[in-house]
Amino acid sequence: MIFGRVKPLEAILATAQKKSLHRSLGAFQLMLFGIGCVIGTGIFVLTASGAQKAGPGLMLAFAIAGAICIIAALCYAEIAAMVPVAGSAYTYTYATMGELLAWTVGWALVLEYAVAASAVSVGWSGYFTGSILDKTFGIHLPAWLTAGPLALGGAPGGLINLPAFIIAMLVTWLLMVGTTESARVNAALVAIKVTALTAFIVLTVPHIDAAKFNPFLPAGVFGSLGSGVGAVGAAATIFFAYVGFDAVSTAAEETKNPQRNVPIGLIGSLLFCTIFYIIVAAGAIGSIGGQPIMGPGGVPFPAGSEELARQCALPQFKDMLVCSNEALAHVLREIGYSTVGNLLGYAAGIALPSVILILMFGQTRIFFVMARDGLLPEALAKVHPKWKTPYVVTAITGLAVAIAAAFLPVGQLADIANAGTLYAFMMVAIAVLILRRTAPDQPRAFRTPLVWVIAPLTVVGCIFLFVNLPAAAMLVLPIWGLLGLVIYFGYSRSRSYLGRGIVERLSFDDEGLDSPIRD
Ligand code: ALA
Repeated sequence: MIFGRVKPLEAILATAQKKSLHRSLGAFQLMLFGIGCVIGTGIFVLTASGAQKAGPGLMLAFAIAGAICIIAALCYAEIAAMVPVAGSAYTYTYATMGELLAWTVGWALVLEYAVAASAVSVGWSGYFTGSILDKTFGIHLPAWLTAGPLALGGAPGGLINLPAFIIAMLVTWLLMVGTTESARVNAALVAIKVTALTAFIVLTVPHIDAAKFNPFLPAGVFGSLGSGVGAVGAAATIFFAYVGFDAVSTAAEETKNPQRNVPIGLIGSLLFCTIFYIIVAAGAIGSIGGQPIMGPGGVPFPAGSEELARQCALPQFKDMLVCSNEALAHVLREIGYSTVGNLLGYAAGIALPSVILILMFGQTRIFFVMARDGLLPEALAKVHPKWKTPYVVTAITGLAVAIAAAFLPVGQLADIANAGTLYAFMMVAIAVLILRRTAPDQPRAFRTPLVWVIAPLTVVGCIFLFVNLPAAAMLVLPIWGLLGLVIYFGYSRSRSYLGRGIVERLSFDDEGLDSPIRD
């Protein structure tokens, strides 16, 4: 039963052919799209929690997480160029491992997209309240309005993160009325982010003091199971900084010469970000130091914990990197570039909402595809007559994203998003192998090199990062999965169109929906 109800590949490909969007995107635009989705809260904010977990070993953490994403991207590239349809990992699993596992992937993607959107909203809030409200306008919001009950670096006992709630609702509204991002706007935002990070590197690198990298691995390479510390624990958290690159695969259908351009877009954007991230981490830690605050037994206090927040309130610790809500701006202020620090804060303030938009967009489209398959109520897929958007599902998703952003800390949200993403990546790697066996003659625009090595390595890499997440984040996945199974067996299974023998349903184009990026 587990592998039952495999959706015929021909039916999926027929949907893709029917869509036949105008192929206008080139490798460079695709790379820009990838970088636009990827650079966000991970580097701008989670650098602080990464340093709390690994100290200078954070640089190694970026390399480990980047390497695992790059091999996962090689798998994505094959399947995205071959089955260029919306729903990515969910659809690929439907075509290879059947409905039940596809459902679990779709369900896990809620963690990747919706929870990640919450995390980015909280990250944005740190920069908005710090660099924009406080440092520029002298408006100091009370702590209880800028942090959920437990927020990184904030005083324990915040009540609600109001800015995070508001930005998530604002983006929801934009999506409901039909805002998608044009390739040109995306390119401008990427330019802003890359300029901000380049300025950061140029200003911090001359301040690097080699002594600050010593000890390089204050919490070791591996922490104990469930502790989420050490270089690998930091890699599991900082993996968030790469989440979103798979959105490139959803644009495969609009790409010119996809066999060449999709892999370049996926791998090029990841390589670029990996190198950039390592240098930014070196600049941050080498200039102001990034050693963790150690708790009992020489183990770092958990990032985002109440104990850490209490330590960070002490005068001797309050200016440390690991205590900052706006890590990169803080580093620049500490080395005497307050104005540039604020400008970097504005860059984050302008660019991060577009990451929220892309993530939330991805979420609504996945729900849309699942509803189109009959696994979720059709009412969710209702398209607004004027706005041409799936407004019901967008409103519900947006509200959930905003509520999670209002009450949960960024680090925890990011770890939960990572758990769901790692599961989806693992399934994509398995799907590539299955398709090599079940559809060996299907034309493949791009073939994963050494697939029998790369795909299993991806599976191992994903499991490896997953078991190095903090225990709470690890637990969320099976609990969330169990809830998903209850819904599947209680509702979806009997209503599935495939289960009832109906294979072909509406596509986005039938509904006049937009795709994630426009020329
Ligand atoms: N990778 C994206 C970020 O770091 C989700 O914000």
